[in-house]
Amino acid sequence: MPTYRAPRGTRDLLPADRAPFARLERIARDLASRYGYREIEVPIFEQGAVFEHGIGEVTDVVEKELFRVSPSRGEERERWALRPEATAGICRAYVEHGMQTWPQPVKLAMTGPMFRYDRPQAGRYRQFWQWNVEAFGDPGPAVDAELIELGMQFYRAASLDDVEVLVNSIGDPACRPAYVAELAAYFRGHEAALPELERRRLAANPLRLLDSKEPAMAALIAAAPKSIDRLCGACAAHFAGVRAHLDAVSIAYRIEPALVRGLDYYTRTTFEFYRRGAAGQQQALGGGGRYDGLVALLGGKPTPGIGFALGLDRVVLALESAGTAPVEEAAPIAVVVGADPADTAGRLVVATRLRGAGLAVHADLSQRKLGRQLEAAVKEGAHYAVILGDELAAGDVQLRDLDAASQKLVPLESLAALLRRKTPGA
Ligand code: HAM
Repeated sequence: MPTYRAPRGTRDLLPADRAPFARLERIARDLASRYGYREIEVPIFEQGAVFEHGIGEVTDVVEKELFRVSPSRGEERERWALRPEATAGICRAYVEHGMQTWPQPVKLAMTGPMFRYDRPQAGRYRQFWQWNVEAFGDPGPAVDAELIELGMQFYRAASLDDVEVLVNSIGDPACRPAYVAELAAYFRGHEAALPELERRRLAANPLRLLDSKEPAMAALIAAAPKSIDRLCGACAAHFAGVRAHLDAVSIAYRIEPALVRGLDYYTRTTFEFYRRGAAGQQQALGGGGRYDGLVALLGGKPTPGIGFALGLDRVVLALESAGTAPVEEAAPIAVVVGADPADTAGRLVVATRLRGAGLAVHADLSQRKLGRQLEAAVKEGAHYAVILGDELAAGDVQLRDLDAASQKLVPLESLAALLRRKTPGA
């Protein structure tokens, strides 16, 4: 047993584990820029109040899952927390930097690690990665559909073909209070059947009960009053608009009346992405919704917003379980090796020159024999070995084709051009 290990619920992404994340990040970055989302970066920790206020005190994320951090000296009175999600921090930044004065909508995207102190299991980690996309200043409903379509595009581009989206509307401050009161009355009528946590939440945040994963709650939730049946005229029109726009771009969706999401800031549209057949389990691949009150809640001018976060860890797991081929790590076109074990400088000089010409070339800087250097080059997956030997005096090297096991004399001058022609995809 090693003395030091990564904390429970976290994991090291070794190079082969990291490669599929890098691929998803490339897909996300490409889609974000094509859809007009600009990159933002916000701190990994914030004042705790940003989350308490923004996400809501009576949510799992704030009540049970926040990692509190405080410095060992200095600004002790600051109460910070590691970000459990990005939306609250991005809204804080929107307000802090006066983005209300920018041309609206302000469309922002970000990829990075989030932290939640949850019970670790497959697909549930204490440090995990999300792709976040947020649009401020557009009251919708077209942008709601555009975002959902963007999420579906991401899964398709990632080669995950069996993803479906569940949508719902949870109303706004005009219609939700009456609905929540009706919901509370309904659950109070079944109070004896409620698990401990749900009974406690009934008083503070009845909507949260619809989000409960307790098996004992499933039947009660299924029979509970539905927010989509209690929407005010404006919310009903918005929801109809979202649906019409989804139809217009041929996105199939399922309405899930209990989809309230685990964070308090949502208004109107909510949605979650699942692999088909996995809906209702804990393993959403991603989720999001509209948060028209959040910017004002964090001190800004009232500004509508909508966004989503897709969990990258879960997409990687889903791709693995679907049997998708692992992401190949790029191999060098060539490794520079040498007949003189002591002449590491010669190899370094030639490799540096080839890399300067834009080629992926490694140098064997060991002092082992040529045979060993060639074996290592094959193991690295290199296509060629550039062998430095006596010919170098005349300005030539041996270029060995490691796949064909053949070799020829090449002038050092023309080596870069030759290797560039041989580089796959060049
Ligand atoms: P969320 O539903 O809490 O939403 O998280 C989004 C996704 O992050 C989940 O669907 C899941 O794939 C992934 N995820 C969450 N927790 C974990 C975990 N412990 N381990 C692995 N993956 C996890 C939000 O975070 C909102 N900020 C989304 C949003 C953006 N709403 C509006 N804008």
